[in-house]
Amino acid sequence: MLFHPLANDILQEIRAIAENSRLPAYSTHDHTGFWRFVVFRHAKITDELMTNIVAIHYDKDIADELRERIMAKFPAITSLIYSTTTSKASVAFGEKEYLLSGKPTITEKIGPYSFEISANSFFQTNSKGTKRLYDSVIEMAGFRGDENVFDLYCGAGTISLYVSGLVRQVTGFEVIPSAVDDALRNALNNGISNCHFVRCDLMNGLQDSESIVARFGKPDLLIIDPPRGGMHPKTVKAILALAPQKIVHVSCNPTTLARDLAVLCENDYVLTKVQPVDMFPHTAHIEVVVQMVRK
Ligand SMILES: C[S@@+](CC[C@H](N)C(=O)[O-])C[C@H]1O[C@@H](n2cnc3c(N)ncnc32)[C@H](O)[C@@H]1O
Repeated sequence: MLFHPLANDILQEIRAIAENSRLPAYSTHDHTGFWRFVVFRHAKITDELMTNIVAIHYDKDIADELRERIMAKFPAITSLIYSTTTSKASVAFGEKEYLLSGKPTITEKIGPYSFEISANSFFQTNSKGTKRLYDSVIEMAGFRGDENVFDLYCGAGTISLYVSGLVRQVTGFEVIPSAVDDALRNALNNGISNCHFVRCDLMNGLQDSESIVARFGKPDLLIIDPPRGGMHPKTVKAILALAPQKIVHVSCNPTTLARDLAVLCENDYVLTKVQPVDMFPHTAHIEVVVQMVRK
């Protein structure tokens, strides 16, 4: 099943609290209202459970009621968070976070590594599938042990850290500050010292590529794992300029993957392997890992 067995019950409780509050749901038509999203995160290996309620602003009475009613009924929740956002974008992302109960992060394990993930950091939704996905990345990369690797769109540093023992050095690039903080802390907690993480908006290509290469060296291999929208054309251009020998591209959206691969393969790369991974069973979605080699 996709959902944690408790998710529907917690949702019903939050729905009852929302109805009782008489505060309206947020409307994306006129941008009024209060209640916006509920996000559940369940770490399958450690069994930790995060519930994040996103509303337009902070209300102390609502916060107290959420804490008291939800924690009394669902003590299995290890992180209860109330986030607020005034953004008009329909994304479940908090600009401010208020920890109502438990820890600010949940911990999940992939293979021998442990990852602390905060509410706003990306983490693959299918923990057991993630090991398979990351093992496909390793297989496609075919590491020799001396590579300098760049991991673009690295999130909480999970792929960087997972492959760190097989290469000389990894540098991860990510736009969300809390994800970069998680990545740095995860490296420390796992005793890994050959990974670096850079906060960087890849909408503008790889800003300041020259100083990045001066600092971290020219990459032999690139791992790319962009969001559903794929890469910005400036980023594709920056990748062509970096000219790594091999690229391993992970994608959860075959449409934007095809668009971005077309540009890379019209230029310097040949598509050599494609491996779909069923990360989202019982849905029409598919994750794909591809290998490209420089011509
Ligand atoms: C599909 S996730 C992959 C994360 C990671 N590789 C993993 O396996 O958990 C995509 C990541 O790209 C980040 N991202 C989205 N837009 C970005 C941008 N413009 N610049 C840098 N990172 C971005 C997101 O915050 C997210 O962490």
